[in-house]
Amino acid sequence: MKIRILGSGAGGGLPQWNCNCANCTHARGYTGDIQPRTQSSIAVSGNGTDWVLINASPDLLAQLRSHPELQPARSVRDTGIVAVMLIDAQIDHVTGLLMLRERTAPLPLYATPPVFDDLSTGLPLVPLLAHYCGVDRHDIVLDEPFEIAHAKGLRFTAIAVESKAPPYSPRRESGVPGDNIALVIENVANGARVFYAPGLAGASPAVLAAMNSAQLVLVDGTFWSQTEMIDLGLADKFAIDMGHLAQCGYRGEPGMVQLLDGLPRATRKVLIHINNTNPILDPHSAEYAAIRARGIEVARDGMQFEV
Ligand code: MLT
Ligand code: MN
Ligand code: ZN
Repeated sequence: MKIRILGSGAGGGLPQWNCNCANCTHARGYTGDIQPRTQSSIAVSGNGTDWVLINASPDLLAQLRSHPELQPARSVRDTGIVAVMLIDAQIDHVTGLLMLRERTAPLPLYATPPVFDDLSTGLPLVPLLAHYCGVDRHDIVLDEPFEIAHAKGLRFTAIAVESKAPPYSPRRESGVPGDNIALVIENVANGARVFYAPGLAGASPAVLAAMNSAQLVLVDGTFWSQTEMIDLGLADKFAIDMGHLAQCGYRGEPGMVQLLDGLPRATRKVLIHINNTNPILDPHSAEYAAIRARGIEVARDGMQFEV
């Protein structure tokens, strides 16, 4: 199974268009070693030809241009993307759907019923796309392994996770299971697994077991600290209130690094969906060194994995 990190940034990307924090300033000017990052998305393939796009970021078109393997050009109009899967209905994960409207056949779209609900009401991309290519809707059932036609060699399992429905959702402050999911993606040929969760506010026993079963863990790296946005004067919310478990623990509660410390040694642990304010984006920072010393990696756009 091949995995491509198309976008390793959180909503806004790096640099964010209106941000002049140190990370954004360096990334914008290519000063220092802070690499720009597009918004959160990965692609997965069992055979290197047929790809499942997981999350459709606002930066999708640039991401596809950087990944010609997703555009095999077997006919005048063609794509390697056989389906799109969504882990939530957040803006950074769904707006790229609009960029796929030129498809010549309805778009196979996999999401949970609450996500389809948001995408049919508050942000009605599904009915809107009916006026273009149309959507071939597939409802994801939690905890039930499923396969996708044409995505040979892959098996998916969705697990409900604690995080947040989007700000526009009526369920922002009273979520239901399925507003946010983690995915376990299995290579059917060898049983190897990837755990993917760009939004994770905490780990239930089921989520921990899924993480423990994976050879590759791609997990929420949004914030370094619980109070990061408050400390920078950029927001009045804790990381957890935005649906993200910060890397550092807070008031005795473990953070993401403590969670990752508990995983088997053979597991590769990679932080994805990194917010532009996070100091781990600077490879010369003490925070980056601390993460690396624990065997945790910081995702970059274009990173590739084979499991
Ligand atoms: C989040 O995960 O909190 C998002 O990145 C928010 C957004 O897309 O605006
Ligand atoms: Mn996000
Ligand atoms: Zn910034």
